[in-house]
Amino acid sequence: MTQEWSDIDAYIVEHLAPPDPALDHALAANRAAGLPSIDVAPNQGKLLHILARMCGARRILEIGTLGGYSTIWLARALPADGALVTLEFAAAHAAVARANIENAGLAHLVTVHVGAALDTLATLDAAALFDFIFIDADKRNNPGYLTWALKLSHPGSVIVVDNVVRHGAILDAASTDRDVQGIRGFFDMLSRETRLTATAVQTVGSKGWDGFAIGIVT
Ligand SMILES: C[S@@+](CC[C@H](N)C(=O)[O-])C[C@H]1O[C@@H](n2cnc3c(N)ncnc32)[C@H](O)[C@@H]1O
Repeated sequence: MTQEWSDIDAYIVEHLAPPDPALDHALAANRAAGLPSIDVAPNQGKLLHILARMCGARRILEIGTLGGYSTIWLARALPADGALVTLEFAAAHAAVARANIENAGLAHLVTVHVGAALDTLATLDAAALFDFIFIDADKRNNPGYLTWALKLSHPGSVIVVDNVVRHGAILDAASTDRDVQGIRGFFDMLSRETRLTATAVQTVGSKGWDGFAIGIVT
């Protein structure tokens, strides 16, 4: 990561994602609870918020809650009668997230499920489809998450998948890193998937060199 990438992110955030009590509180509470600092950057959180609003999302699914930082950005995009379902493996992370979401005044819109997301996904109401899906959990399971995202979405739904570049590690076909292989498998699926029009974009910034994939269900 270069200092310039972080400095530019700081410049963007200063202009376009200024201090916000609920979001700042969430990051501070995450730090105090010892959660890893792997939430989306503020300008990326705002991008998720804008994307969800652009597609008029009323129901949002998030896979990978951590302390609820991206959850808050996304839930703020919902109408008053909207709903956000977020899935988190670690009970300790979910507890911090619930408190952060409550503090942000969004608890009435958000349900946090604890457990392995692949298990939880199988328990969700298959008829209650999502307009926007954000995949940001263990990357090794991205192929499985994409399969579920397609089951739980409808034509016009938007699917965003974070961390699909991993400092360029995805180019290594022989990588023994299961997360890298999960992303490679995910790209293979995307390249064949006719139900989704998708692309991916590299990013640099305060979180280093990475990228996200985005697709619209056709
Ligand atoms: C990158 S963090 C999510 C960051 C969050 N979306 C944000 O930007 O604020 C990934 C989260 O996925 C969770 N996770 C890992 N494996 C999981 C699994 N199998 N099912 C559900 N959550 C999982 C981790 O515990 C971690 O909290």
